[in-house]
Amino acid sequence: MIVLRVDPLNPETDLIRKAAEVIRSGGLVAFPTETVYGLGANAFDGKAAEKVFKAKRRPMDNPLIVHIADVGQLEEVASDLSPEVMDLAQKVWPGPLTFVLKKTSKVPLETTGGLNTVAVRMPAHPIALSLIRESGVPIAAPSANLATKPSPTLAEHVIQDLDGSVDIVIDGGESFFGVESTIINLTVKPPVLLRPGPFTVEELTTLVGEINVPEELTRGKEFGVALAPGMKYKHYAPDKTLYLVERKSIFLDVVNILREKKRVAVLCSEETCSKLEEPRIILGNSENLYSIAKNLFKSFRQLDGLDVDLGVIEPFPEKGIGLAIMNRVKKATAHKFIRSLDEARQIANS
Ligand code: TXA
Ligand code: MG
Repeated sequence: MIVLRVDPLNPETDLIRKAAEVIRSGGLVAFPTETVYGLGANAFDGKAAEKVFKAKRRPMDNPLIVHIADVGQLEEVASDLSPEVMDLAQKVWPGPLTFVLKKTSKVPLETTGGLNTVAVRMPAHPIALSLIRESGVPIAAPSANLATKPSPTLAEHVIQDLDGSVDIVIDGGESFFGVESTIINLTVKPPVLLRPGPFTVEELTTLVGEINVPEELTRGKEFGVALAPGMKYKHYAPDKTLYLVERKSIFLDVVNILREKKRVAVLCSEETCSKLEEPRIILGNSENLYSIAKNLFKSFRQLDGLDVDLGVIEPFPEKGIGLAIMNRVKKATAHKFIRSLDEARQIANS
């Protein structure tokens, strides 16, 4: 495995060409995007796509996202493109919004996990865009973590998870958003949100009008067994037990009750953490949910490194990027919520 340090704003062409050569010859390159790091392979090469599944230990029927570098490339991977879809692509790309569309015959079933639809996005990251351009092919890339770990927001997370099974890791520093792209299914009307992300439901609604936001998503799932195959698999949960405290108003009391009996790490905003003793993992500023999103996956990895019995995380408002934050938090807690001080006492005594 080679690690290439690349300037995220002005990627060095010679380094990108080296990585592009690996993509063209069927190898794997992990690279930064504005959301999380991706594990990339030539999207048109079924054998290369298979390597991605093996490296991640991901079930073969959980499809990959295909990354393109300009709107024109969309026609190579997706068919039945309506003027509305093209218009939306022009408006939102590059950016953290993934479209599910009908695939073309050029995209092998290995890439789409056997589906006749394909998930496509154009990432807003100079390294990702330059890698796709220099490769000359669209790049299929899921998040560059082992299937059992949180998505990587730093090259070191990729190295921890995938050392030995990836040819090149491009280190371009920390991912900007820290949660994976929003996914919307555009093959149905009204479009259905499949995964909340940095591109918010509020923004989407102003662009496409009505969209269907399944209630499952606020319970921390990706929607629809057939539509978003990822959801039928167990999602990432830290090795340490993590509880979500359902209401912010009881968070401090819950922590104090638990700490009478257990070693508890708190995952909280600066404001909340300032009222609590160590061990604590500061997520960011609660006035700025983007700062919370950016540190979230890293905080899950940090929790597993602490010598504690359990972790508790504070809730954030489910609006804007907060919907994506809470969706990932609920998955990570495997739906273990603390709703009252009584529940906290029971857990403390258990
Ligand atoms: O931000 C992101 O989207 C990152 C970066 C690397 O671009 N990628 C990412 O990929 O999060 P991954 O593989 O971890 O998540 C892809 C999700 C899965 O939940 C998968 O089930 C869904 O997209 N998906 C892919 N193709 C699909 C399709 N044809 N229909 C429905 N869901 C699909
Ligand atoms: Mg993933």
